[in-house]
Amino acid sequence: MDKIVALCKRRGFIFQSSEIYGGLNGAWDYGPLGAELKRNLKDYWWKSMTQLRDDIVGFDGSILMNRAVWKASGHEATFSDPMVECPISKKRFRADQIEPMSGTVHHLRAAVKTKSGAITPEHFQVLVPKGKPVESAQKVMRQYLTVRGYADTDILEIYSDKSEPVENTTLFNSENGAQLGEPKVFNLMLKTYVGAVESEDAITYLRPETAQAMFVQFKNVLEVARKKLPFGIAQIGKAFRNEINPRNFTFRSREFEQMELEFFIKPGTGPEWLEKWREERLAWYEAVGIPRAKIHVLTVPEKDRAFYSQGTYDLEYEFPFGIQELEGIAHRGNYDLKQHQEHSGKPLEYFDEETKTKYLAEVVEPSAGVDRTVLAILCEAYEEETVKDEESGKEETRVVLHFVPRIAPIKAGIFPLLKNKPELTTLARSIQKTLQPLMKVAYDEAGSIGKRYRRIDEEGTPFGITVDFETLEGVKETSTSATGAPIAVGDKDTVTLRHRDSMKQERIAIADLPAYLLTKVS
Ligand code: GAP
Repeated sequence: MDKIVALCKRRGFIFQSSEIYGGLNGAWDYGPLGAELKRNLKDYWWKSMTQLRDDIVGFDGSILMNRAVWKASGHEATFSDPMVECPISKKRFRADQIEPMSGTVHHLRAAVKTKSGAITPEHFQVLVPKGKPVESAQKVMRQYLTVRGYADTDILEIYSDKSEPVENTTLFNSENGAQLGEPKVFNLMLKTYVGAVESEDAITYLRPETAQAMFVQFKNVLEVARKKLPFGIAQIGKAFRNEINPRNFTFRSREFEQMELEFFIKPGTGPEWLEKWREERLAWYEAVGIPRAKIHVLTVPEKDRAFYSQGTYDLEYEFPFGIQELEGIAHRGNYDLKQHQEHSGKPLEYFDEETKTKYLAEVVEPSAGVDRTVLAILCEAYEEETVKDEESGKEETRVVLHFVPRIAPIKAGIFPLLKNKPELTTLARSIQKTLQPLMKVAYDEAGSIGKRYRRIDEEGTPFGITVDFETLEGVKETSTSATGAPIAVGDKDTVTLRHRDSMKQERIAIADLPAYLLTKVS
């Protein structure tokens, strides 16, 4: 994972937000290559949903919504995590995500002097993991007393009352062994004020999911889209959650993007659609470079499901830091439409022309994270391999990102073999100009050709196009510009096409490049 994070910074995929000011925990910036990669991924999702199907329409809702939405959806009352705090480091952890620890728990007591001079007892528990010296418990106790405001001279005595072995407890901070505080409920929505006055009635939240706007606009969309059930509304957009522990690079962030589909269905058809969407989504991940074998489908047990869910699959990926959720596919029943109908007083029922009945539609929701999918694609694409250098023939390690071409940030690198030969550079530039309207390509003339290939390997560019002397041989026979540099090319004039994954090189007619590349990247 460290290598992937380093590559992301080195090549400009992902930077820490506000880096020059020390960063902001849980926020990330996508650099030039990351922005292209993310955009390609979102475009492909959008296309799969709204262009390649005729039962889904697109939508782009606002991030700020009336607070009543969050009351009706249940987010204001229940969108929370239990949180515990380390009294020494003040770090907060999700109570259900504490790393289990084994070792010996020491019940420590201290006699300390208060400001008024009285002697008072203090009590604290410290877990010392197996193999660690028992004295470390005393050190942690001292730190605890220091944060409670006692000076070294106030601490008269520290002793162990009792000690006991424990296995897999989650009551202690794994970083220092300190006993964690009692769990407190912590709402994950980021609160803000709309308007000039920061009063109670100006409160709203940055949306914690994109879904709600699609529920509250269900009627409007239904009327204009002229669709019958089953049909879906698809949206991509930012969501915000004040996560207690943002971690694992972009995996758990406080600002992230979701790709959500609300697929409205007839009551009773939920289980069938849940299966269909699971298969659709698995195929989609395969098409963006995450093989089915690397995705674990978890049937979420009832006790772990959101309270509104009648069935949920989690699609989980084998990240280097563990198997973790990429997407949830939930059968939400009619919970959301029912809540908004009740709270707004506006009818949100669907009139079924066939049965001449009115009812609330049910929903199956595939909800994917853009940032998590980008991270999974980066992890899946990353490879270090020993190869023979294409110029010197010496063995070396190459770092390569095997992005599928449709997702790759740059589709082809265009290289004149030498930068000081105008015949080569002019022609390479003219190939660049031909390809630019069709796809993202990059011209590069700096360094040896071998170095340039290595650079595009690390950036995940699937094709390298090199204009070399063999190209000129053919071009010279066709035409030259006023400066003497060849520009117009004949049908048989060729360049070297180098394939990133196999490193194989072949010759291809310049005239065939656009059609060849378009079939590969689309
Ligand atoms: N509307 C349903 C919903 O929001 P969710 O499981 O809470 O469901 C859906 O979120 C997806 O959004 C997750 O599977 C994940 O990919 C992404 N996601 C959720 N919280 C995230 C976070 N803190 N950082 C990055 N992605 C997150």
